[in-house]
Amino acid sequence: KKSKAYNCWLNYENCSVGEYQDFCNYIKVKSTHPIINTAIEELKFGLNKLMKKEPLILNYSPKSSYIFVGTLEDLKNEKLDVQIKNEILKEDGFAVKIVKEGDTDVLAIIGQNEKGVLYGVFYLLRAICSGNSLNEIEIEDGPYNLLRIINHWDNLNGEIERGYAGQSIFFKDNKVVEDLSRVKDYARLLASIGINGVVLNNVNVHKYETELITDKFLPDVSRIADVFRLYGIKIYLSINFAAPVEIGDLPTADPLDERVKKWWKEIVENIYRYIPDFGGFLVKADSEFRPGPFTYGRNHAEGANMLAEALKPHGGLVFWRAFVYNCMVDWRDRTQDRAKAAYENFKPLDGQFMDNVVLQIKYGPMDFQIREPVSPLFGAMEKTNVALELQITQEYTGQQKDLCYLPTMWKEILDFDTYAKGKGSTVAKVVNGSLFGMKYGGIVGVSNIGDSKSWTGHPLAQANLYGFGRLAWNPLLSPKEIAEEWTKLTFGHDEQVINTIVSMLMASRDIYEKYTAPLGVGWMVNPGHHYGPNPEGYEYSHWGTYHYADYKGIGVDRTVATGTGYTAQYKEPIASMYENIETCPDELLLFFHHVPYTHKLKSGKTVIQHIYDTHFEGAEEAKGLKEKWLTLRGKIDEEIFEMVLERLEMQIKNAIEWRDVVNTYFYRKTGIRDVHNRKIYE
Ligand code: GCU
Repeated sequence: KKSKAYNCWLNYENCSVGEYQDFCNYIKVKSTHPIINTAIEELKFGLNKLMKKEPLILNYSPKSSYIFVGTLEDLKNEKLDVQIKNEILKEDGFAVKIVKEGDTDVLAIIGQNEKGVLYGVFYLLRAICSGNSLNEIEIEDGPYNLLRIINHWDNLNGEIERGYAGQSIFFKDNKVVEDLSRVKDYARLLASIGINGVVLNNVNVHKYETELITDKFLPDVSRIADVFRLYGIKIYLSINFAAPVEIGDLPTADPLDERVKKWWKEIVENIYRYIPDFGGFLVKADSEFRPGPFTYGRNHAEGANMLAEALKPHGGLVFWRAFVYNCMVDWRDRTQDRAKAAYENFKPLDGQFMDNVVLQIKYGPMDFQIREPVSPLFGAMEKTNVALELQITQEYTGQQKDLCYLPTMWKEILDFDTYAKGKGSTVAKVVNGSLFGMKYGGIVGVSNIGDSKSWTGHPLAQANLYGFGRLAWNPLLSPKEIAEEWTKLTFGHDEQVINTIVSMLMASRDIYEKYTAPLGVGWMVNPGHHYGPNPEGYEYSHWGTYHYADYKGIGVDRTVATGTGYTAQYKEPIASMYENIETCPDELLLFFHHVPYTHKLKSGKTVIQHIYDTHFEGAEEAKGLKEKWLTLRGKIDEEIFEMVLERLEMQIKNAIEWRDVVNTYFYRKTGIRDVHNRKIYE
């Protein structure tokens, strides 16, 4: 028996199933499509766990109530009276309805395609487990985003870059693992939240991984693809732009060189021989020492299009990352601004990318900090497919030791109005392609799972994976309703349990932000591993990550008037809002402005007092999380209880360390005392 921590939100326990019982003796299905078979397998499994029933699978209608499972196409041969309101469901969409066949009641699960059927099955199971009654069950639903993708930063040796939950479930000892049963369990989790693509390997493609696209590894990579395919998930690979030189025998990787084009074409053809539904490539080029088109005097459109051309005949995509910046800057030079880089590199190329290229843009202009403005590239690329890149793995947000429920942050990003086509031009509309009428679009998340017992190390970090999938499917959901849904599915229906956990999740991002870097300044972390406080850890480095704190003030002046001019990358009225210190939101003040410590925030507090207050509060609130959790002892699975408790204790230590290091740092810089005279070490 698998543990609760392992089963995540697919425990199917503690739910009342009364009203559904009658439908669950029979399942009628005609299609034998592999994904429909998966859907049936999942439905049987779920119903069996929920009601100890073994439904009979039929290809004809029984005399009493039953569940019908099929695509819109399958429905054509049925006598079911199903009305689909939206005429055609969206790609991957589904409908669940109670309908009649003569006198018989039928619970129909209809998919726009086979994947839609699978999503419909998971929806039904989720609805039952969330305690939805039969008359609330009807739905017509389709994904807001076509591409809902997880990026793994897994290396072939089994290590995961920025992984905080164990080793890779795909790779070990420079091979694909033999036993893929865990990959299947993972595919179930992902399909249940609507994910339809997975990039298997790290964006930093090292020596061995460069060969993943060759005969040496493809037989094994295709075994992974076989597992995911049954769950409607395509696989993608990160590639090394210099592969023609490193593993081919070409003297160049110049994207305009005919030999290079031919090399990639053949590589791609070979991949599709093994994996006919291969998704495509993810590319980190000319970024943090990775090779790219710049070496050959070519631009990123030329680089991306060369690969896109090779993939196009097979229906493959190129995800080309916009994380391109100079990581060798001189901290002495205050005119340099890393935040400006992505826009400067890519805006001039808008319109030059092929239609199977998707520009993958990190949510902020820097790098997954707890607080950054939204990247101005969203809304600026009007003729380019774009995807939003989020980090589910908590590199800068507590590394799955500290609790940090990220959907609250992601929702702010998705709701952010770029004003690209006037009011209402949200990031959500930009990335799903609807704002500019683009063909492809979606949301990508860097995975937070590994081979740890609970997948995510911190069991409550499962909520981030769950929330990622739900928001990628439907960005209109609220973080709170997602938290409630996840909590019920994972822990059952005890009111106290639900209220406690939801309140912990909902407060967690603010708490984390309070005890770490203040007011949008970011980067006060230990270099390299990025956990724990180090206010000047990145201050004199070459990474372009500075806050410029001195004895008078702190922050980066990114205004047009007196600073780097970054604010001009936004559309109005956003540009002016950030440019003007009066209208710049407090939480981003130090991202956009250099101010004296005595500058008054909109809250009425000075910057220095805000720093002290939030750090004392944050550390206290971290302790509060543990107190809340302790009230649940005996009410939830023991193993999970202990795992979470252990991490909450680590979080408290971390928060105290942050509080004291940051407060002392600023006290020493400024000599200004805390108005409440709390303990600040000198
Ligand atoms: C961050 C992270 C790296 C990663 C990089 C990227 O800088 O620390 O580990 O490779 O982002 O997204 O490419």
